[in-house]
Amino acid sequence: MRLGIFRKVPVESVLSQRRENKRGLVPALDAWDLTALGVGAIIGTGIFVLTGVAAANYAGPGVIFSFILAGLVSGLAAIVYTELAAALPVAGSVYTFSYVTLGEIAAWLVGWNLILEYLVAAGAVAIGWSSYIGDLLRSVGVVIPPGLSQSPFDGGIFNAPALFIVLAITALIITGTQHSVVANKVVVLAKLAAIILFLAVGIRHIDPANWKPLLPFGPGGVIQGAAIVFFAYIGFDAVATASEEVKNPQRDLPRGIIYSLLVSTVLYVGVAVTLTGMVRYTQLNTASPVAAALIRAGVPWASALVSVGALAGLTSVLLVAMYGQSRIFFAMARDGLLPPIFDWIHPRLRTPVWDSLVIGLVVAAIGALLPIGLVAELANIGTLSAFTAASAGVIILRRQAPGLNRPFRIPWMPVIPVLTIISAVYLALNLPALTLVRFVVWLVIGLVVYFAYGFRRSALAREEETREKPEAAGPVRALPAPARKAGRR
Ligand code: ALA
Repeated sequence: MRLGIFRKVPVESVLSQRRENKRGLVPALDAWDLTALGVGAIIGTGIFVLTGVAAANYAGPGVIFSFILAGLVSGLAAIVYTELAAALPVAGSVYTFSYVTLGEIAAWLVGWNLILEYLVAAGAVAIGWSSYIGDLLRSVGVVIPPGLSQSPFDGGIFNAPALFIVLAITALIITGTQHSVVANKVVVLAKLAAIILFLAVGIRHIDPANWKPLLPFGPGGVIQGAAIVFFAYIGFDAVATASEEVKNPQRDLPRGIIYSLLVSTVLYVGVAVTLTGMVRYTQLNTASPVAAALIRAGVPWASALVSVGALAGLTSVLLVAMYGQSRIFFAMARDGLLPPIFDWIHPRLRTPVWDSLVIGLVVAAIGALLPIGLVAELANIGTLSAFTAASAGVIILRRQAPGLNRPFRIPWMPVIPVLTIISAVYLALNLPALTLVRFVVWLVIGLVVYFAYGFRRSALAREEETREKPEAAGPVRALPAPARKAGRR
């Protein structure tokens, strides 16, 4: 049997794809745009919602260490992503890296898991946004009827605010990257201001007695807490998904990824220290722990301002998650693994309109109809599997293309990618068992879709067919640059 499922896109054709990309995406982003994109993607539900949940149920004040642990795992993965993204700056991130290094079926599964990560995380964030806006409106006397702010699973009709925010952001993404980047910077500044305000006010209300005992659930609780708050770090890889739109990717990509992760980690640890110092961990099990802590401390004005910042934070996370997903769809369609309609760039707007539209509708449906618990927990495992694939990919690429121009080289190879794999798998195993089962179900569905569509329709499959039976293959319009190049080899 021929193992077409392991066919790979040649490295040089991925690089030429960027050079030949005349009709495609506009390279307009620099390192600071990328950092804003990264911080915009990273700081959101994780810090504003999950800190309290993880402290109260898993780690106690030890959630501080959970954040450090999850940050270390993400930092290791960030180093891996940086080498890959700088060496292969094309849309699609770890999906494209996997196509080059691990082969088609692995790339498909990675792309499929990225769909899980982004769509599900975006859905969860939209639901979180809905509850924050509900709180804020309530504080000025406007009450959204429960039927219109809850999923049918929670006794409502649909979640109207979640639906609204997803559709608004979809419109923003469709009208062009540059607009999205500008809007993103505004909300990033707002949420950073909110966190700094919280730290400045909260630090005066710390009672060190609240940090005792430091590890009420033991070290195991800290690790389980890390598996949960890992959600807070999801998103730095969105920087890599924008690599085709970066002006000087080889200089700016590593900077964008590393700066955004550093900023986020420092703020998270600061918030975790302050929050667990202000409030006893047993009282942190609330959907808005940061705002609640300020109310308890008797500073409601700061609480309201921080809530506005949290809303801004959730908005930007949603924006970047949906933006990143549209670029992954685009890359997968360009390779023929998804229908060609997703490989179409609007001639005037110069954005992949259909990708954004379909993603918007799916995320809107998730946000409007599903409960947050069901959607939130899957995002972590999708991301951890992407970290694992990227780490395997970076090791393989060193052997496969030793002469490739690598503006950023990981030191002490292969220590860092191997550590990334071990720590990502370990964190994944600390997630609830049901999450692991759902993940396996998702993978099986992915395999069925691959064999039903991509296996025969991928650009590489059609290129093979053309070589074998030129008369039977028909026109090869859908072939992307990698396959056209490969065909000339
Ligand atoms: N890291 C993102 C958040 O915390 C997904 O909302």
